[in-house]
Amino acid sequence: MTAMSSIISPYRFLLILLVAAHSICCGATDKEKDVYIVYMGSLPEGQYSPTFHHLSLLEEILGESAATESIVRSYTRSFNAFAARLSNEEQQRIASKKEVLSVFPSRTLQLQTTRSWEFIGLTETAKRNPTVESDVIIGVLDTGIWPESESFSDKGYGPPPKKWKGACKGGSNFTCNNKIIGARAYSSDENSSVRDEEGHGSHTASTAAGSKVPDASFYGVAKGIARGGVPSARIAAYKVCDSIGCAGEDVLAAFDDAIADGVDLISISLGGGKPIAVKSDIISIGSFHAMEKGILTVNSAGNEGPSVSSVSSVAPWLFSVAASSTDRKIITKVVLANGKTLTGNAVNSFTLNGTKFPLVYGKAASRSCSDILAGHCIEGCLDSRLVEGKIVVCNDPNAIKETSRVGALGTIILGDGQKDVSFVLPLPASILATDQYSVLQSFLNSTKNPQGSILKSETNKDTHAPVVASFSSRGPNSILEDILKPDISAPGIEILAAFSPDGSPSSFNEDKRHAKYSILSGTSMACPHVTGAAAYIKTFHPDWSPSAIKSALMTTAWPMNATIQGQYEDGEFAFGAGHINPVKAKAPGLVYEASKDDYLKMLCSINITSFGTCPKHITGSPKDLNYPSIQAQVNAVKKFTVEFPRTVTNVGPGNSTYVAKVDVADSDIKVSVKPGTLSFKSSGEKKSFIVTVSGKGLKVTSRLSASLVWSDGTHNVRSPIVVYTNSF
Ligand SMILES: *[C@@H]1O[C@H](CO)[C@@H](O)[C@H](O)[C@H]1NC(C)=O
Ligand SMILES: *[C@@H]1O[C@H](CO)[C@@H](O)[C@H](O)[C@H]1NC(C)=O
Ligand SMILES: *[C@@H]1O[C@H](CO)[C@@H](O)[C@H](O)[C@H]1NC(C)=O
Ligand SMILES: *[C@@H]1O[C@H](CO)[C@@H](O)[C@H](O)[C@H]1NC(C)=O
Ligand SMILES: *[C@@H]1O[C@H](CO)[C@@H](O)[C@H](O)[C@H]1NC(C)=O
Ligand SMILES: *[C@@H]1O[C@H](CO)[C@@H](O)[C@H](O)[C@H]1NC(C)=O
Ligand SMILES: *[C@@H]1O[C@H](CO)[C@@H](O)[C@H](O)[C@H]1NC(C)=O
Repeated sequence: MTAMSSIISPYRFLLILLVAAHSICCGATDKEKDVYIVYMGSLPEGQYSPTFHHLSLLEEILGESAATESIVRSYTRSFNAFAARLSNEEQQRIASKKEVLSVFPSRTLQLQTTRSWEFIGLTETAKRNPTVESDVIIGVLDTGIWPESESFSDKGYGPPPKKWKGACKGGSNFTCNNKIIGARAYSSDENSSVRDEEGHGSHTASTAAGSKVPDASFYGVAKGIARGGVPSARIAAYKVCDSIGCAGEDVLAAFDDAIADGVDLISISLGGGKPIAVKSDIISIGSFHAMEKGILTVNSAGNEGPSVSSVSSVAPWLFSVAASSTDRKIITKVVLANGKTLTGNAVNSFTLNGTKFPLVYGKAASRSCSDILAGHCIEGCLDSRLVEGKIVVCNDPNAIKETSRVGALGTIILGDGQKDVSFVLPLPASILATDQYSVLQSFLNSTKNPQGSILKSETNKDTHAPVVASFSSRGPNSILEDILKPDISAPGIEILAAFSPDGSPSSFNEDKRHAKYSILSGTSMACPHVTGAAAYIKTFHPDWSPSAIKSALMTTAWPMNATIQGQYEDGEFAFGAGHINPVKAKAPGLVYEASKDDYLKMLCSINITSFGTCPKHITGSPKDLNYPSIQAQVNAVKKFTVEFPRTVTNVGPGNSTYVAKVDVADSDIKVSVKPGTLSFKSSGEKKSFIVTVSGKGLKVTSRLSASLVWSDGTHNVRSPIVVYTNSF
């Protein structure tokens, strides 16, 4: 009975609190008090009601009614603390209580725009090397760039680095500066300009290397500081795409130029959709030559997820990037006249000023279509006279096109497909998942003149982040089965960055907004995060090879958890080595390096001979490539033993000893490492070892993973290990 009441009590108090907050709040004295966090450590084991405890603590100091007025938040799930409005004297009295560990004023935090960089730990105050950074040149192969954007201002920049051999051939009405030091266009149109008319290229370039811009936002949504990963670095823009697409020949031409121009890194947020053979893949080829010249190419994994084997960035010399969430989620609320609030996905910059407008089903706004077609708001079905001044409700995620065409005031649509991402839409809109949509439906079904409103977007804290986006392309690698792809995961959901005022923020023609900053999602957005991070590493280690930089970022990545996608748990096939952690990658301890010859050997072992002359005696197979991740495809059901030779180079302190630690989640496989200890005497020294993975036979269509960590006590050099069956 006692246990029972202590479970119930917090709810009782919360109910009182809600009422109290509305009716008594905001007396003059309360406003003078500051909000303090009262921290009480871990939650005790067993029956314990934190809120009850918090309130009784406050009651002791403030009295019963004042306690409920004063409490602001009660933290009850992961740790024990509360926030309350307190005077200086009150907070001191609470601090003296034995169960209270500390009391401190709560700060007002600003929402920060390129929050994504903060989220991955590369903060504004992170240690930097600005002089070296300003010598780093990032080549961006994309839709061009908007040279007048504040993100590309060259205020404070010196002349281009001496090594720069590129040119500014931006075309008509395009001038470079000391930030955008190179520009080339590849259209056959003689008057073409590198000016970005889409927005995509300005977005990716500014994410990698944009200058710091305070108070950037998309019409007030996601307001904060916009900045790239390496704000002092230079940009060379290669315009290879227009509104129709990116011609392969133009892309290869841009690789050709960029390598010769002397860029340090190439960022290419493009892909072909389907994975194709390395030897006929423009990006694989262009980047192979970049690698040969010491230039790392960073590439988006693709937006074809969550289907298996959809990753289209497959070559081992490419750095292939999956997209994941950050802790900032953008949502759009719908308020119904009955007071109910629904939450949906959309980046909605429009305000309806809180005014409620009539809600109408698509089928009631059509004269020409059947109820089913009109219910889906299929193109051509809606009648503009019937939607005027109304919010149209459609049970189809593609309805936006039609509701926008006929000039509806707003739209609310059912879209269960991509619950994890909000897109910019051309009119006030919110996309609801099934549960929220059915609340709307019952309101519509039971109300005579239903009304509602769509609110401007808000941002929520997403405590589950990072999670790989549903759209992010998945492995396994269907071209090179023993190379794990994607390599790494980085922020790619709802990223705010520079845009083109000429582009449509929602990619609808009806959308006449001219945005200098916009919010986009895709592996396209994740890619420049890794480019920026790789550039950051390069400023500390200018002589590192592309494979060393890549290895450093992969082996220091945060381990991520597998998520269920349909019938599979997608794990490493979604995120590769894990979530990028640039600051850690500055000092990885050991790196897995591969030279052009190593890649050639790998290609020749599978009879791909188009990348160069094969050595006389080819041994081994792609699994033997000195890659920072370890993967092999095996036959289902059969017993197997796979050996993976690897060599690490010591890039840490000279005298160091590393011990191998293997973490196997599943008892169906065994992993051993020989030798299990590596002792280095000097920096730059190499040591080899063999990882052996064996098992009695995997189930049909299965993937098992493990990890290897080499640790010297300071550095933890982690490689994912994946074995999967060929029927995947
Ligand atoms: C150059 O482009 C900018 C941005 O589109 C435009 O405002 C300006 O009028 C153009 N100038 C000329 C001379 O075309
Ligand atoms: C290029 O610009 C010139 C001068 O403005 C114009 O005469 C010519 O028609 C343009 N060419 C194309 C292909 O638009
Ligand atoms: C909301 O208010 C603004 C400013 O008064 C006005 O421009 C806009 O048209 C209003 N929107 C609606 C939907 O009434
Ligand atoms: C509302 O009515 C529609 C038909 O107009 C029906 O398909 C739907 O199931 C109803 N939903 C609820 C929640 O009542
Ligand atoms: C992964 O899952 C474990 C167990 O549920 C949890 O403790 C851990 O915090 C999760 N890690 C991440 C990065 O989400
Ligand atoms: C490569 O070609 C040789 C000779 O044609 C053949 O024996 C071998 O099986 C091929 N290897 C692969 C992996 O296709
Ligand atoms: C490594 O340790 C040995 C023996 O303690 C010492 O002689 C040597 O100078 C050390 N080397 C470095 C690079 O610290």
